[in-house]
Amino acid sequence: MRNAIPRRLGVLISGRGSNLQSIVTAIQSQRLDASIGVVVSNRADAHGLARARDAGIEAVYLNPRDYSNRDTYDRAVVDVLHAREVSLVCLAGFMRLVGRPLLDAFPNRILNIHPSLLPAFRGLDAQRQALEHGVRITGATVHLVTADLDDGPIVVQAPVPVFDDDTVETLSARILVEEHRIYPEAIATILDGGWRIDGRRFVRRSS
Ligand code: GRF
Repeated sequence: MRNAIPRRLGVLISGRGSNLQSIVTAIQSQRLDASIGVVVSNRADAHGLARARDAGIEAVYLNPRDYSNRDTYDRAVVDVLHAREVSLVCLAGFMRLVGRPLLDAFPNRILNIHPSLLPAFRGLDAQRQALEHGVRITGATVHLVTADLDDGPIVVQAPVPVFDDDTVETLSARILVEEHRIYPEAIATILDGGWRIDGRRFVRRSS
């Protein structure tokens, strides 16, 4: 296959883990040809840890307080991922900035999902930002992770309309449906290979 990469994922989470679940479900239903080597959380109470264990996936909690700074923490995460021979890292609600050790260990091999149509509404509370800005269309984005927050090459996007009577909750729920659809799709695209990065652009090679 065209530069296909090994199909072993590591998923980093901090909370609920519904995107993790969408990846697990896609694998179980054979819509995504991959396996999850390990799930890592920076929070002990992340519900995603239980979701992983329920699916028979190793789940590791790494407490940031046990490390002196971000780089030593990131190196510990890299060690866990390397030990499970992970080839693609998926951030799924991981509420930490990704530092140099992780980026260098997985160049163009880290994906993130963000609940807006980037580059609009980076950072926290993207759904609230969109609602308060008054946009009529927002959405979800899966992108490759670079050193800048929510800024890397865009792999897949999905639009979601904003309705007059939306609240942050109703809008977030509608966006989440699209997140769960496009994340497995983006992972498959990355794993299949046949793409390159051209400046800011993620470009699929025509076959
Ligand atoms: C999602 O909205 C994702 O886009 C954002 O954080 C949220 C995580 O939700 N990065 P979950 O933990 O996957 O349910």
